[in-house]
Amino acid sequence: MKVVVCANYDEVSVKAAQLVEAQILGNDHSVLGLATGSTPLGLYERLVEGVKLRGISYKNVCTINLDEYLGLDKGHPESYRTFMTENLFDKIDIVIGNTYIPDGTSDSAEECLRYEQVIDSVGPIDLQVLGIGRNGHIGFNEPGTDSNSLTHVVELVASTRESNARFFTSIDEVPTHAITTGIKSILKSKEIILLASGKDKAEAVRTLLNKDVTESFPASILWNHDNVTLIVDRDAYELVK
Ligand code: F6R
Repeated sequence: MKVVVCANYDEVSVKAAQLVEAQILGNDHSVLGLATGSTPLGLYERLVEGVKLRGISYKNVCTINLDEYLGLDKGHPESYRTFMTENLFDKIDIVIGNTYIPDGTSDSAEECLRYEQVIDSVGPIDLQVLGIGRNGHIGFNEPGTDSNSLTHVVELVASTRESNARFFTSIDEVPTHAITTGIKSILKSKEIILLASGKDKAEAVRTLLNKDVTESFPASILWNHDNVTLIVDRDAYELVK
């Protein structure tokens, strides 16, 4: 795992955007793996800027998102489809038919199989963008998830629901389940960038950089992949000795 320590969140976003744009400039039919959450928002702003200022085009790019809440309609304001539409897809020249996100409203067992097939047939993902949960989750793969897991349904742990409640009017509205690509699905990506910013991620970054590979800290399984870059700011790096 390569580690890039940046001064602040803006630098994390710039560095991540440089890697994504380099990928697209090298192959305009690239397949990107994307995440939601607060961390990649700065990256997405930079990518939008790249279309306007640097002439980057997403016309031939495909995207495959990590996860989606179960039970939220695509058009729900807090669905991950809405998040991606508002923060990225509507602002770049991507073809919406080339953007893949699990459907949280169809039969979930069938949807998991279908989505893994998407990863295999549209992919392999050239560059996967990941954030990290305070408990080390990647996607919605919570501690204890089988490292051989493919796309599956998860029950969200209390801490993840509490953390995501900031996007809803109350915690009762946060869905209890989600569909997530599995750890093995994520590891199929050719290259992975893991972004972490802020003091509340410092403990997770410290644990990750202990290199103790264990299913009780899902992000640690990334040590088994040979092309991962952790892009972290000083606040998130502050507990690393
Ligand atoms: C989102 C996702 C999650 C987040 C993680 C960090 O698609 O897969 O694993 O990356 O929960 O979230 P933020 O960036 O909001 O701290």
